[in-house]
Amino acid sequence: MKLSRKIFLLSAVACGMMVAHGAAHAHAAKGPTDPADERARQVLAHMSLQDKMSLLFSVDGGGFNGSVAPPGGLGSAAYLRAPAGSGLPDLQISDAGLGIRNPAHIRKDGVAVSLPSGLSTASSWDMDMAREAGAMIGREAWQSGFNVLLGGGADLTRDPRGGRNFEYAGEDPLQTGLMVGSTIAGVQSQHVISTLKHYAMNDLETSRMTMSADIDPVAMRESDLLGFEIAMETGHPGSVMCSYNRVNDLYACENPYLLTKTLKQDWHYPGFVMSDWGATHSSARSALAGLDQESAGDHTDARPYFQTLLAADVKAGRVPQSRIDDMAQRIVRSLFAQGLVDHPPVRAPLDVVTDTLVAQRDEEEGAVLLRNEGNVLPLAPTARIAVIGGHADVGVISGGGSSQVDPIGGEVVKGPGKKDWPGDPVYFPSSPLRAMRAEAPAAHITYDPGTNIAAAVRAARAADVAVVYATQFTFEGMDAPNMHLDANADALIAAVAAANPRTVVVMETGDPVLMPWNGSVAGVLEAWFPGSAGGTAIARLLFGKVAPSGHLTMTFPQAESQLAHPDIAGVNANNVFEMQFHTDQELVYDEGSDVGYRWFDRNHLKPLYPFGHGLTYTTFATDGLAAGYHHKQLTVTFNVRNTGTRPGVDVPQVYVGLPDGGARRLAGWQRVKLAPGESRQVSVRVDPRLLAHFDGKHDRWDIPSGRFRVWLGHSAVDDSQQVSVHLSGRTLAP
Ligand code: GLC
Repeated sequence: MKLSRKIFLLSAVACGMMVAHGAAHAHAAKGPTDPADERARQVLAHMSLQDKMSLLFSVDGGGFNGSVAPPGGLGSAAYLRAPAGSGLPDLQISDAGLGIRNPAHIRKDGVAVSLPSGLSTASSWDMDMAREAGAMIGREAWQSGFNVLLGGGADLTRDPRGGRNFEYAGEDPLQTGLMVGSTIAGVQSQHVISTLKHYAMNDLETSRMTMSADIDPVAMRESDLLGFEIAMETGHPGSVMCSYNRVNDLYACENPYLLTKTLKQDWHYPGFVMSDWGATHSSARSALAGLDQESAGDHTDARPYFQTLLAADVKAGRVPQSRIDDMAQRIVRSLFAQGLVDHPPVRAPLDVVTDTLVAQRDEEEGAVLLRNEGNVLPLAPTARIAVIGGHADVGVISGGGSSQVDPIGGEVVKGPGKKDWPGDPVYFPSSPLRAMRAEAPAAHITYDPGTNIAAAVRAARAADVAVVYATQFTFEGMDAPNMHLDANADALIAAVAAANPRTVVVMETGDPVLMPWNGSVAGVLEAWFPGSAGGTAIARLLFGKVAPSGHLTMTFPQAESQLAHPDIAGVNANNVFEMQFHTDQELVYDEGSDVGYRWFDRNHLKPLYPFGHGLTYTTFATDGLAAGYHHKQLTVTFNVRNTGTRPGVDVPQVYVGLPDGGARRLAGWQRVKLAPGESRQVSVRVDPRLLAHFDGKHDRWDIPSGRFRVWLGHSAVDDSQQVSVHLSGRTLAP
């Protein structure tokens, strides 16, 4: 689809309107005189076939237990030595999307700041924050000598037990595309290539290396692939990482429909496709399908596909030289386009204080206040407060796997010593308890570890308010076997709430969880994996130094039976590696594009907390909803007013319903910061793809004619304001 993506700045200044997110558009048609393409062509014109082929595979960068960094490598996920005399930089390839990973603690001086989970960034619904977060980790990568950062996780949350959901953005393709695309743009603003990953349908960890995600291609284009498409338009990633799994039976990294037809032909993607680590299964078949670079195959693949076998394929005529030229052109073009050639990394000490503040603000904006009965929050600065559980005395938990950042100052919680991947949960030394005491020196704040429920109950009884910290450790390679909090948290919370109804639960989770005690507690703050400054951010939110403004990007179900796939076959495997290789696992995504809130909408299911939900310390009202269709563009306008007594941020959301009555779709939103009594008019331009069905036969988007419904609300279940608009059908320009 050739559309040029621009954010149309409406006459916002003239009428005080705010530009809202939802206006999507098109990606600039790659002009014939794209300077990066031209410069790449000039370099490659003088390069031998052998040198070109040396660009098509990276080697293990020392990122695996027992492996060592190759000569020239810094110690990371992968390394690629550039051909001598080419003038191109070596590729120093680092994980990942939350900060620089120091695999196996190779780099003794490996300092890095960790963002909160991708879910927290996404839950801010703030594209500027997402971009700033990406710029922070991109800057740290660059200052540490890396020029490729394997971030940009954009797989949709089709299952709230997904082991890597914490790295991603949630259920919705528009929200995911705009938020992850913004993070990618931030990383690349620092002359570091970001990936967009894991393309595609890598929505679960169970059997991820072998399973086939089976889905109607039309439904995939309207959901997972639409998220990737919008992320690509928004962030222009230098590279796309194809995923481990099969899609409709073909491995993603040798899948012509994904890599060539959709990504490179329909979307005109000019960059290169790299494999995930161990996701390459052939030489000629992968190259001809559209794979451009094999990642760390020397350590992770069964055979040296692109390192050795591909040359034989070319010699035998199985792979034309033109494909090799195209592969090399795409790689070198990205090096120029993202500034790696003109702005090679300059090693420098990290500005940890500034970078930690970015992580703190990201968490402050992304934490979601789910419940606040009786305005139990914000806490009074002189209250008697019992802090309980979650290792809140020393730190905050983080997610496991290749996105793991080493905590500065070392780990503060000694785990049980789990040997197999990914090891024990890692806590960042940002203690909520210490931060709460610093925020409220006049408060009387006690701490109980929560391991002995009777002791915790006594502590709660003696306090005005009990704040229970509860964790759910999730990690790459394994899905959550259930939706419960870790250890004894549910029983602990229930007992504490029975002893003191003014109980607040702070959840540090990788996923939505079941909350059997929800009705018994006064407050719930979802803090996700809070990042390097998580304790400080949580404390500031609890005492109201900053008001919560996060909104859910994934549904919290009342029960697993509500899910499209209540049972994840194989999730009870004994260990992570066995589970990742469950063979012949077919998962038929028969919900199609009705992911998450759309599934709940289609089936009239009531969630515990809906997509889009989030409270704050003031109240807002919206009115004046109107929908206009001019010059083939649907624009929704409305007013937002702060009706409370404290300043705050609201995130009103626009949803649309097509004439055929299918599930509602998020069509746009705006973060609006308002002082008490202040109001603002907002305008949302709706991406026409959200008004359309994808026509797989003709490979195009068609807007049907008929009556479209438009909702304005504070979640996917908010029906309080609705208008309709009649549109005449049309086919979107290719
Ligand atoms: C992993 C992950 C991918 C990561 C890569 C390098 O298995 O799937 O996200 O970037 O390998 O560690």
